[in-house]
Amino acid sequence: MQTFKGRDLLTLAELTPGELAHVLDVAETPAESWPRFDGASAGMIFMKPSLRTRVSFEVGCVQLGVHPIVMGPFDAFSREETVHDTVKVLERYVDLIVLRTFAHSHIEEVAGHASVPVINALTDDYHPCQGLADLLTIRQHKGALKGLRLAYVGDGANNMSNTYLLAGALAGMQVAIGAPAAYQPAPAVLAQAQELAARYGTGATFAVTADAAEAVAGADVVVTDTWASMGHEEEHAKRVVEFAGYSVTPELMAKADAQAIFMHCLPAHRGEEVANEVIDSAASVVFDEAENRLHAQRAWMSLVLGGEEL
Ligand code: CP
Ligand code: NVA
Repeated sequence: MQTFKGRDLLTLAELTPGELAHVLDVAETPAESWPRFDGASAGMIFMKPSLRTRVSFEVGCVQLGVHPIVMGPFDAFSREETVHDTVKVLERYVDLIVLRTFAHSHIEEVAGHASVPVINALTDDYHPCQGLADLLTIRQHKGALKGLRLAYVGDGANNMSNTYLLAGALAGMQVAIGAPAAYQPAPAVLAQAQELAARYGTGATFAVTADAAEAVAGADVVVTDTWASMGHEEEHAKRVVEFAGYSVTPELMAKADAQAIFMHCLPAHRGEEVANEVIDSAASVVFDEAENRLHAQRAWMSLVLGGEEL
């Protein structure tokens, strides 16, 4: 019997396909059935900017009766205090730690010291909360996940492309990454996705190509993300040149299935990775996707605080 109580969420690879489906089901729990954790607190540390993640976690906490405390780099991991000491102090106050940071090894270190659950609110390598919200959004719009064709176009080596590989592996999707040669998934991440798909027999497949049109051909879901993630801002001008040809334009969307949906974790850089005509089209579900951050994170927090068994 698996329980969610006390568990961390650093990457989606920590979930089984069954657990993943359960989290998505819990995310659709009607408001009158949400549990309450009055008296609990969540410490949320943002070492990078955030709109959606910060606000959706704060609102999700309030909906569960959990008091949210938001901190920035001024408050935590400052003044040369060690990760160990920071975590050992925080866990005396809070029941949950949410962290957005740079190196994935930083959140691994935090989780290694923490006796309370740790939730990854984005690292350089993974964004599991966005992955849960995106799968929920796809399931709502397409009815199911297994066998769907998801095409990710753009920076194929960032936290979102990594997350789609793991999400697709667990959900049994056909994931195609269309990215310039220098921005394709790390072999280790691809291997991890393949290993997960084989371990659980989900039937997921993975393809990587430098040809955006080839990646998008026949896709049910077309997704992109910024070309220069947080921490790489100084490369923006260089990347705008390198990623020419990887914009999701109406012409590229026309290669996808006629019923394809368009997704983007946001913030979008209109006119770069996506054209206005696509993000503002009827195919775009980006604001449902943003809303689902709230539902997915509330579900995960309720499970790790409440301890429901599978
Ligand atoms: N998608 C996402 O994580 O948005 P924020 O960076 O605004 O939190
Ligand atoms: N890849 C982007 C995602 C933002 C939510 C970044 O890390 O900046």
